[in-house]
Amino acid sequence: MADLLIGQVLQFTGNPMTDGVEAGRHSARGGVLIEAGHIAEVGEADDLRRAHPQAKVTDYGKALISAGFVDAHVHYPQTAMIASWGKRLIDWLNSYTFPEEMKFADPAYAAEIAARYFDLTLSNGTTTVCSYCTIHPESVDAFFTEAERRGLRAFAGKTCMDRNAPEALTDTPRSAYDDSKRLLEKWQGRGRLSYVVTPRFSPTSTPEQLEAMGALWKEHPDCLMQTHLSEQTDEVAWVKSLFPTLRDYLDTYEQFGLLGPGALFGHAIYLEPREIDRLKEVDASLIHCPTSNTFIGSGLFDMDGLSRSGHRIGLATDTGGGSSFSMLRTMAAAYEVAQLRGRPLHPSELWWLATQGAARSLRADGRIGNLAPGMEADIAVIDLASTPAIAQRATRAKDIWEAVFPTIMMGDDRAVTSVWAGGIRKF
Ligand code: GUN
Ligand code: ZN
Repeated sequence: MADLLIGQVLQFTGNPMTDGVEAGRHSARGGVLIEAGHIAEVGEADDLRRAHPQAKVTDYGKALISAGFVDAHVHYPQTAMIASWGKRLIDWLNSYTFPEEMKFADPAYAAEIAARYFDLTLSNGTTTVCSYCTIHPESVDAFFTEAERRGLRAFAGKTCMDRNAPEALTDTPRSAYDDSKRLLEKWQGRGRLSYVVTPRFSPTSTPEQLEAMGALWKEHPDCLMQTHLSEQTDEVAWVKSLFPTLRDYLDTYEQFGLLGPGALFGHAIYLEPREIDRLKEVDASLIHCPTSNTFIGSGLFDMDGLSRSGHRIGLATDTGGGSSFSMLRTMAAAYEVAQLRGRPLHPSELWWLATQGAARSLRADGRIGNLAPGMEADIAVIDLASTPAIAQRATRAKDIWEAVFPTIMMGDDRAVTSVWAGGIRKF
């Protein structure tokens, strides 16, 4: 049976970063018709009601019906150590992250955290994430098993490291290749799941391991590849010392077959002109992680410059380097970071980045991240008056964007009224 959701409907007809903010389209009394897990129609509520009298109606009143949020870069194993105090990247990894990731050798612990992680992301309106796991194959199985059980579209891969990490967290070029290949063959394309080739970053992989990852990716060009790039200045200096003959940080991936369309580079803050040009040329994705970049003290992503030059940009929490599971909070941080660089992002741009833009960075924008016929029915319903502070500001709003912006800046999981994934209501 068809479902008809009624409320304020927000959809995108283009990319507001390049096509103008009007690409975000709003209907004050709209409807979304869901059939067989997909969106069949989007239109005016009254028209859809008349055309589909048998559809089961869920009326969300003045709440905003949007595509579910897409989080393009996360570390689900860092769920339990989010908000760990006082370190910068390399010390943060050694003090907090690696000890926590070691616990994922235990499949029961991995399963517990995977379940907790998806509880948290769904309650925040996020219906798709792209996650790093740990070096343990069991951590990948735990992630995909939980995503599959919940019917979510999800992306993840085994994190590979063969140096500069504790012994218990290292693999080898051979085992990283073999384990990743086995996991890829098991999970890639199974239902709504996608495997992502995942070398953590070049400081923790030898050239031999980067080469093995490049070989695996070449054999499976339909998969994405994710890693980190130019997040902190001391990290960039470290990479230079580890790869003294290479041109720049990006070259440590490029030389080993880890640059191409379908490559996702987390952070990308301190880019050289050559790197900027090359990333654009191959149409790789840059994943902006603003709460992480302020929390770990990394720096300010150049959203204005990189979006003007036409780079493919996604938005992400980067939990637990990021300090929130919420894409609302992440939009707020993206706004603040861009403000510090002199470019106020419009609410239409922010919402697009957290939905269709993030999906586009994962090359999944034909399936998720927007409300349009044929898209998978992953939907978040957002209360635009979820707290007294937000409600009193929203009553002054003169248009939809003024009504949405207080929720972007001050909202959290209390604003998420309902979530649908694959056409099934989750709450
Ligand atoms: N660089 C390499 N690993 C990580 C990680 O786990 N988090 C962040 N923020 N940066 C990284
Ligand atoms: Zn990361």
